[in-house]
Amino acid sequence: MLATAENGVERSKDAPYNGKTFLVTGANSGVGYGIVQRLLEQALEPNSEDVVIVMACRSRPKAEAARQKLLEESQTVADAKVSQRRRSVKPEMLQILIVDLASMQSVFAACEEFQRRFSRLDALLLNAGILPCSHINIRRGVKNLLTRPSYVAKTGGDFFSQYLGDVTADGLGTVFAANVFGHYVMVKQLLSTLSRSPSSRVLWFSSTTADPSFFNPADFQCLKGDHPYESSKRLCELLAVQMHSELRDRGIYSYVVSPGNCFTGLLDQGWFISFAWLTVLYLMRLMYISGCNVTPKNGATSAVHLASEVRDPSDLKESILYHSEISPLGHKSVRHLPLEVAADDLTGMKTVRKELDVMYQRFREEALRNGIIKS
Ligand SMILES: NC(=O)c1ccc[n+]([C@@H]2O[C@H](COP(=O)([O-])OP(=O)(O)OC[C@H]3O[C@@H](n4cnc5c(N)ncnc54)[C@H](OP(=O)(O)O)[C@@H]3O)[C@@H](O)[C@H]2O)c1
Repeated sequence: MLATAENGVERSKDAPYNGKTFLVTGANSGVGYGIVQRLLEQALEPNSEDVVIVMACRSRPKAEAARQKLLEESQTVADAKVSQRRRSVKPEMLQILIVDLASMQSVFAACEEFQRRFSRLDALLLNAGILPCSHINIRRGVKNLLTRPSYVAKTGGDFFSQYLGDVTADGLGTVFAANVFGHYVMVKQLLSTLSRSPSSRVLWFSSTTADPSFFNPADFQCLKGDHPYESSKRLCELLAVQMHSELRDRGIYSYVVSPGNCFTGLLDQGWFISFAWLTVLYLMRLMYISGCNVTPKNGATSAVHLASEVRDPSDLKESILYHSEISPLGHKSVRHLPLEVAADDLTGMKTVRKELDVMYQRFREEALRNGIIKS
């Protein structure tokens, strides 16, 4: 038997990974890392089934460092709980897949590689995301706090200004490409693999700040609008709802999750703002304010629940935002928040979907011409 050292893991070439398979985008940091931590902890419980967790990341050095850290952390936990007869940590449980979601040819290549290396996909967690924060707009935030409290309750106050109009080398809006379209292509390319597992799940990541007012179907890439992050998250919600009804007959269930407020690299604005944000998050949590999970591992609650704890996903509703919650004393739960999706939103989405599919076909033909995919 031939052995390969693909992604640092020795394995037999004719032995595909057969365990229950999770694919997590943006798994090297933040909420994605927290999700992998928790899935790995579950996989080491006594009597748990075999799993493979695929960490889809854009930087190989970051992915390898994260994978190594996760394996060491799990080994430390396993050593400390040796009396509980937990399963042993196996390096092949954690796999790396390199993908830059803002580059469509990279997405096609990654999906092709995934299908070559893995025979099934039980949960696709579309976690990776960017929030291109240019600066903190304290004046606007405070003004909103004083004059528009209901808007602040919905959007978080709009304290952060974003870089606008950025496009990728593919000519797509950067935030739209990384947060939505790269993931959309991934879902389309992996449908046949998803449909091989009974009741597989596709989880789209949104935020309570994704107010419908930030999304304009006529500018779905948000090249003209001033809230590209919120617009992208709203589009994820609408796609999840729309795709749920298209795919459930194939045993594929599409839902929306939110990690709540977590202290991650998403808002990287230097040590002072980071320290202030962390303090505010802990204070808000003590005041019972919803969704102040603080750590990304706590923020992973809703995604891990839907990906691996819910046995029958057909019991869930696509019109819900599954939101990670934590009490001041650390009790974790999933809150069901209604998604605002009106009939008009879904009508508008029909046109958006047509345009997304035209773009998908164009990039797919390019991938075929470049020999990245075969059919
Ligand atoms: N943190 C919060 O409070 C919060 C609240 C609501 C929703 N969310 C959502 O939760 C998700 C995770 O956010 P987070 O807070 O964990 O952010 P984060 O710490 O900044 O992590 C984002 C991850 O996405 C990856 N990524 C970014 N662009 C990518 C690309 N083009 N291709 C591949 N990977 C890419 C990053 O990789 P690199 O390390 O290489 O940059 C990183 O691993 C996002 O969808 C976000 O919108 C977060």
